[in-house]
Amino acid sequence: MAPGLFLQELCSRPGIIGAICPSSRYLARHMARQVPHNDKGLVIELGGGTGAITQALLNHGIPPERLMVVEFSSPFVQRLRKRFPHVNVVQGNAADLSRLVPQGSRIHAIVSSLPLCSLPEPMTQSILQQWQQLLHEDGVAVQFTYNLRSPKWRRHMQAQQTSSKIVWANLPPANITTFSFRTAKLPAPHEHLSPEPPR
Ligand SMILES: C[S@@+](CC[C@H](N)C(=O)[O-])C[C@H]1O[C@@H](n2cnc3c(N)ncnc32)[C@H](O)[C@@H]1O
Repeated sequence: MAPGLFLQELCSRPGIIGAICPSSRYLARHMARQVPHNDKGLVIELGGGTGAITQALLNHGIPPERLMVVEFSSPFVQRLRKRFPHVNVVQGNAADLSRLVPQGSRIHAIVSSLPLCSLPEPMTQSILQQWQQLLHEDGVAVQFTYNLRSPKWRRHMQAQQTSSKIVWANLPPANITTFSFRTAKLPAPHEHLSPEPPR
């Protein structure tokens, strides 16, 4: 952890950091556990900060070559690259995710600690739409929020919530929600037909 660096970034960009300190190891571990084990596809972490969740994802068994971290702040990017030399750390805006991911890659999970409650609403909407376009149909999106009731960004999330858990051992406590974008499978045309009436 680098609390000094986090504090420095918080003071210069409070709206973008959106937290008073890095995530606790309990929150980070629980975020990482939402990613199902799978031997295919990329796991994308959005808003890596000082690497609390990055470390938890690696501990969870995600191979470093299958992990890509997108972080906006340059001091955090430098810190992440030094701490995780085998992970692809990309400096950029999560709102440009479609352009940042390697073309044609299969995305298995998006693990986000972006401060969706404090980002401009059109940006949040665009970020969530890109998740829907980019995630593989079996993929999951994981997001934490300090708003334990009903954060505004939820209305832009066109996905099914598959789990939700409050982690109290964090400052402040946070709610982790997991989403699936798999569209309900439409029944085949013959499934609509009623059986032939008896003669
Ligand atoms: C709440 S902090 C979480 C940091 C770290 N993952 C943790 O859990 O301790 C949010 C992080 O998202 C980054 N961030 C905010 N807006 C972003 C954006 N549009 N694109 C990429 N990263 C962004 C911030 O720089 C910060 O590192």
